[in-house]
Amino acid sequence: MSAPKFSPVSRAFAPDAVGSAVRLRGWVLRTRSSGGILFFVLRDRTGNVQVTARRDEVGEAAFTAAEHVQIEGAVAVEGTVAEDRRAPDGREVRAKRVDVIDAGEPFPIFTDQTEEFLLDQRHLAIRSQENVAIFRVKAELLRAFREFFDREEVVEMTPPILTGNAAEGGAEAFRFDYFGRPGYLSQTAQLYLEALLFPHERVYALTPSFRAEKSRTPRHLTEFLNLEVELAWCDLPELLDFIERMMVDVLHAVAERRPKELQSLGRPPKELLEIHAPFDRIRYAEAIDRLTKLGFPVEFGSDLGTAEERALTLESKTPLFVTHYPRALKAFYMFQSRDDPRTVEATDLLGPEGYGEIVGASCRETDIARLHERIEQIGAKREEYEWYLDLRRHGNVPHAGFGLGVERVLRWMLRREHIRDTTPFPRTPSRHTP
Ligand code: 4AD
Ligand code: MG
Repeated sequence: MSAPKFSPVSRAFAPDAVGSAVRLRGWVLRTRSSGGILFFVLRDRTGNVQVTARRDEVGEAAFTAAEHVQIEGAVAVEGTVAEDRRAPDGREVRAKRVDVIDAGEPFPIFTDQTEEFLLDQRHLAIRSQENVAIFRVKAELLRAFREFFDREEVVEMTPPILTGNAAEGGAEAFRFDYFGRPGYLSQTAQLYLEALLFPHERVYALTPSFRAEKSRTPRHLTEFLNLEVELAWCDLPELLDFIERMMVDVLHAVAERRPKELQSLGRPPKELLEIHAPFDRIRYAEAIDRLTKLGFPVEFGSDLGTAEERALTLESKTPLFVTHYPRALKAFYMFQSRDDPRTVEATDLLGPEGYGEIVGASCRETDIARLHERIEQIGAKREEYEWYLDLRRHGNVPHAGFGLGVERVLRWMLRREHIRDTTPFPRTPSRHTP
């Protein structure tokens, strides 16, 4: 009889697996041997299982080879699934055969190493159980967004990353030489999504955005994943409803599909399932009142920084919409409020528990004269935006959109101190390797 095909490690935990033969392959999470028995935990994409190999069962040569396997070495195992109370998950695989695929060199990562060392070793550190959990949750979150957009008939688009102008204002753009002309890494896909909205009405893109900000804060990366949406025929209340519906939907989907990972990372899934619409909505002016009462030296026109945003949501379990920011604080393309021209039809969604801005959203200015005025005010060249202004000349309609920082959302969901923990290879002012 030929040996069974390789199974995923999760097969060992199937209800009918006890007593059956399995062939597994993967990486060694930890290992120890005592008195002619080798115990190791084998990891694959589906989970971990304890394997026991006895010298008298697998043979002298194979046993000796297996004993020399380092942490993160690769092995294949054939054996039988057995119940074992002492095994971490109540089951183990009793090996009949162990093949060493790569014994490996001593793994350089172990407990109590400095953050800097772990960042230098990030290409290996991403194998830790904690990192495995983080990036499974991230993948699930991205899947939930895509499923939500499918249901809402929002179409995925692929805007460029290499661009000829700095969309959100020049100062924070990474500039490079594009065959002798200036090029910029995309800071936002928004302007392109606005162009794509006319033929498709509801569009989104999930692309990296780049910000050359030297801010060394726990919530800034120089490269982050920006989830951007643009919706035709949309006003501010409808935009807020869309964002709220989306957030509740994806948080619940992730909580239902990745409960074990969330729990292990310090976020009981129940907390996400308890988040429901509606989220509180306050105007910027009211936020200023609240902050003044809390003792912050702010007035109408002050920017809300990390400390201010933190104070507004420190006690809340649900995200908070702050709307109607002063026009002067916000990007040139935001729609000037008709009832209070000092403000724009815009919102920032602040994460609960003091985590700060996770979404930036607005209705887009449709009036070409106002756009000219704002482009001039920010000191940009009108010619650079001529193609964008064209959009206001051909079937101009009310529309709105937003950008959501995927790592910002994860930082809050997974209660991480620093945003760099939510991306496999973080880019910050001090680091762009490995
Ligand atoms: O608020 P921002 O700058 O808005 C825009 O770029 C709009 N053009 C988006 C749009 O309407 N299509 O960025 C959007 C979001 C922020 O709310 C924040 O969550 C995240 O992106 N973000 C960052 N995340 C990590 N590191 C940074 N340096 C970030 N800057 C913004
Ligand atoms: Mg913003």
